Amino acid sequence: MSFSARELLLGAYEAFNRKGVDAFEALLAPELRWQERARSAAFNPATREEVLSRMRALPSWREVLMEPQDVLEADDRLIVVVRERPRAGARNAPEERTRTHVWTIKDGQAVRLEIYRKRSDAMWSVVGYLRLLERLHAYLRPRTYVEIGVSKGHSAARALPGTKIIGIDPAPRLFDPAIASTVEVFRYTSDDYFANNDLSKALDGRPIDLAFIDGYHMFEYALRDFMNLEPYCSEQSVILAHDCYPISRETSTRERTTAVWSGDVWKLVVCLREVRKDLDVHVVDVRPTGLAIITGLDPNSTMITSGYDEIVSRYTPTDYDVLEESKEERLARVDNDWEAITQLLPEPYQDTSDGSDDDPMESVSSTKSYRRTGEPASP
Ligand SMILES: C[S@@+](CC[C@H](N)C(=O)[O-])C[C@H]1O[C@@H](n2cnc3c(N)ncnc32)[C@H](O)[C@@H]1O
Repeated sequence: MSFSARELLLGAYEAFNRKGVDAFEALLAPELRWQERARSAAFNPATREEVLSRMRALPSWREVLMEPQDVLEADDRLIVVVRERPRAGARNAPEERTRTHVWTIKDGQAVRLEIYRKRSDAMWSVVGYLRLLERLHAYLRPRTYVEIGVSKGHSAARALPGTKIIGIDPAPRLFDPAIASTVEVFRYTSDDYFANNDLSKALDGRPIDLAFIDGYHMFEYALRDFMNLEPYCSEQSVILAHDCYPISRETSTRERTTAVWSGDVWKLVVCLREVRKDLDVHVVDVRPTGLAIITGLDPNSTMITSGYDEIVSRYTPTDYDVLEESKEERLARVDNDWEAITQLLPEPYQDTSDGSDDDPMESVSSTKSYRRTGEPASP
């Protein structure tokens, strides 16, 4: 009899509650990636025995009962909202709380386990911008990756092992040593960094292959980030910018008034499409607030630097009304469809003929929709 991934998982939680950590043994693949706690951001490679041994050692696994509250399925991933509470007699267990586990199941075994405090973060990892970032890294295989706005490292953790990663953030929160050790972080605002540092030195003289702008959520900051990154690019580089397909007028104001806030970064797209017609600028409508993909870069272009003041005074007052009228067109919207997205990308920077395509990050398949288990997938 074959079991669905959902049945396997629910059975494993049930056995875990009866017998403890060792009940997960049959579920775990011999080698997997796992995020030990919600506080961490890295997906550390580990053997099944190593994972079980850590689970036995940690009160947050050993001393709790885990009750699945909700299960969502998206391709090879299952999102399980879990209510955790101390087992009888627990001494060091955390207080009752909810966590969201994201399991990647391949051939009936778990090859990856992610843990999130917020269900929304788990969703971005499965169907949102973090998943898209992961696919971009897996496809492009950049040798160098520059991230402006690192925070806890959830996005930087999507880079493949071996990538030279530079992070720029005045207040990074890289709690997880496994991710902190892979990112060379410069604790400056991006303006200060570029004013006083030579990025090419940090990249050992190589150009940027891939960059991600996710710092301060205002148009002119994102524009300067773009302007400061482009000279370090090659014509084949890709610059990504977060927050370029805003949800609503309320979440797109220059002053933050909402919990979800993407500011007016979207004006970067409107501006570049008009001022830099030599670039290819598109925005993937990926949750929560879109990801711009900018290619056709010209490291010698002076069009923005020379007209910076005039450009900022022209585009900063642009009202959200322009999006109410023609959002898809003004922002060059593209579906979050992997086939369509690959048409926008250059060739991979490194070939895959070295046999390294057994990385679990490679095995990501198309995810346009997700569903609760038992429900039909939307068309
Ligand atoms: C939305 S968070 C980044 C999230 C991260 N990229 C991810 O996806 O997990 C924004 C980050 O930008 C940083 N930031 C704010 N102003 C900045 C600036 N002027 N230059 C660079 N980073 C900045 C903040 O400290 C914060 O960590």
